[in-house]
Amino acid sequence: MKEKIEQILTEVKAFHAESKEALENFRIAYLSKKGVIAALFNDFKQVAPEMRKEMGMKLNELKNAVQEILEEQQKQFETTTDTKNDLDLSLPAGMMNGSRHPLSIVRNEINDIFKRLGFVIAEGPEIEDDFHVFSALNFPPDHPARDMQDTFFVTKSPDVVLRTHTSSVQVRVMEQGKLPIRIIAPGRVFRNEAISARAHCIFHQIEGLYIDKNVSFADLKQTLYHFVQEYFGEGTKVRFRPSYFPFTETSAEMDISCNICGGEGCNICKHTGWVEILGCGICDPNILKACNIDPEEYTGFAFGMGIERIAMLKYQINDLRMFFENDIRFLEQFEQA
Ligand code: PHE
Repeated sequence: MKEKIEQILTEVKAFHAESKEALENFRIAYLSKKGVIAALFNDFKQVAPEMRKEMGMKLNELKNAVQEILEEQQKQFETTTDTKNDLDLSLPAGMMNGSRHPLSIVRNEINDIFKRLGFVIAEGPEIEDDFHVFSALNFPPDHPARDMQDTFFVTKSPDVVLRTHTSSVQVRVMEQGKLPIRIIAPGRVFRNEAISARAHCIFHQIEGLYIDKNVSFADLKQTLYHFVQEYFGEGTKVRFRPSYFPFTETSAEMDISCNICGGEGCNICKHTGWVEILGCGICDPNILKACNIDPEEYTGFAFGMGIERIAMLKYQINDLRMFFENDIRFLEQFEQA
């Protein structure tokens, strides 16, 4: 019996489990009720009394060895299982590529179109004073038009606000007094609105401003028409509807033929065949005056659009909140080459 135990002990010590299942089979073979060790303990009953002490010690040595091996090799499988969750070895080699946020992609594409037309990018602060967001743009105090843009106030006096549009950047550029001006102002804006599928309290705009001698509404129409053909594809129709903004006169809103149904009528265009994409107009002489530009000599046009809205149309996204949730399943669909 002694030799038998020693032989088993060498076998056991040489054992190395290849898998969790192999280890479990090893446990069953040695430690279960019908296993090798139970059988040896059964044989032990027949051992002569003078041999019992030595045999008992040998048997226990074997049992402990099996238990130690089990514990030891178990650990190794536990750690393997943990890393398995993070590291799927069956995946193709190579790291996953990061991707730009869809709003950055759309902003860059729009910027590029206007840059090719000679516009340069201008930036300004997100925390602004009342003058740059409202007063210089022809919103007198208590003017009801201020209600059009629900404002977040930082302090009430002096009036410090989160900018509600990037028109404030246009004012800052006009103040510098260098003419002509041909800028676009992309950036984040803030309005105190309830968050829904169609609105958010934070969103992004690109506004444009062109001031020179003899700038007319025809220039405005042609610039925006060109932008639409470039961005939404040739053949996209545009139409201008009269509108109102305190800082432009004449003012208009521009619609494009729905790029989803091609103008036939669908849910996105509410069966009209048209979707509104921006506001625009000829700069009101008052805003030129507020920035020391002579309205007798210079005229200009301005326009402003929401980047989220353009991205929703371009990618057929029907819930604006998707842009802010940063769900990786949404974002990874915008991977670019
Ligand atoms: N600033 C306007 C807005 O945020 C958009 C606009 C810009 C309209 C320029 C006309 C001219 O709604």
